[in-house]
Amino acid sequence: MSDATLAATVNHSGGSYPIKVGWGILDNLGDIVTELGFSGPVYIISDSNVMNPYGRQVQWALQKSGIKAHSFVFPAGEQSKNQNSANEIYKWLVDRKAERRHLIIAVGGGVVGDLAGYVAATFLRGVPFIQVPTSMASMVDASIGGKVAVNLPQGKNLIGAFYQPKAVIADVASLRSLGKRELSEGWAEAIKHGFIVDQQLVDVFEDNSQALMELEPELSTDVIKRSMAIKANIVSQDERETLGLRILLNYGHTVGHALEASTEYGRFMHGEGVSVGMVAASKIAQHMGLIDEELVQRHLKLLTQYNLPINAENINIEAFNNAMALDKKSLSGRNQWVLLDSIGKAITRHDVPVEIVQNVVSELIN
Ligand SMILES: NC(=O)c1ccc[n+]([C@@H]2O[C@H](COP(=O)([O-])OP(=O)(O)OC[C@H]3O[C@@H](n4cnc5c(N)ncnc54)[C@H](O)[C@@H]3O)[C@@H](O)[C@H]2O)c1
Repeated sequence: MSDATLAATVNHSGGSYPIKVGWGILDNLGDIVTELGFSGPVYIISDSNVMNPYGRQVQWALQKSGIKAHSFVFPAGEQSKNQNSANEIYKWLVDRKAERRHLIIAVGGGVVGDLAGYVAATFLRGVPFIQVPTSMASMVDASIGGKVAVNLPQGKNLIGAFYQPKAVIADVASLRSLGKRELSEGWAEAIKHGFIVDQQLVDVFEDNSQALMELEPELSTDVIKRSMAIKANIVSQDERETLGLRILLNYGHTVGHALEASTEYGRFMHGEGVSVGMVAASKIAQHMGLIDEELVQRHLKLLTQYNLPINAENINIEAFNNAMALDKKSLSGRNQWVLLDSIGKAITRHDVPVEIVQNVVSELIN
């Protein structure tokens, strides 16, 4: 029988895993875990915002299927994504006599997924784990592709691994407790997927902004499924970011990261930076003769429909330029730009003249 919740299957060098998406799917987690061949015990890792109610919901669903589930909860926020938290979790796992055949389940946003995934990759040289993303950013982005990491004081995600989960299970209903701003910034990453590979998805976003901003169950589940499938497809083809495909997911990120970094990660949410970054990239592409004004205008209109920023004021330009220069995707001193060649078709370019970048940046960022 076909599984209506199956959004995609990710293929990787060590096998494959399903991405399942549904409205209310968390209640079936016990069955899903059993089907994957795990009988427990399970170690749920979550944060202080998400454990109640979603971690508890997962725990209850597992117990209903006769699977014993322990839980570890850490303080919500990026500041917890570090080696100290990992050490605490290792100790907790040892105290509970966790074994290599047992299962870790990460229930939360990207911070939980990255930290719990990092612990899973390293504890006993690797234990299986499942991602249960509860933020929009973690659903359409962080939970898929096997990048797991913790931060160092010197920078984000400096220690980590490629370590693939056994499954990604996304319950779109869990997004109802996100604030409006969090929802908007999450939609930015999904809109990005449309721009880079799926013109029809852009049409859906344009025609249904109100329903999607209100998280209408059927439509939002469908759109998130589609968006997760896009990321799944890209990472399946380019698991370790070596073939020039996975980098296309960085559309809008060169300027976006620089905005976040130059404001010390305190002012822009990630998706908001990406939104301004996509506008900048569209204008750069227009100056490069790749796309026309109409597609630039579509960016502006669509992102505005989702309450996303299309420019940024009161930015320290020196700090911004320094952050751009440090962009990790830069190659031999020149930024590697992800640009659109047309709607639904992204490419990379290393030959964007500095003057074009400066002109676009001074138009949008001041
Ligand atoms: N591994 C990857 O490929 C990848 C990709 C992108 C981002 N990331 C990482 O993901 C992190 C950002 O992810 P994020 O934005 O989800 O951050 P996050 O995990 O900090 O979540 C943001 C906030 O939302 C709360 N939250 C999560 N789900 C909720 C819900 N359903 N209802 C109410 N509140 C909820 C969290 O407790 C937190 O306070 C960063 O650390 C980033 O480096 C990783």
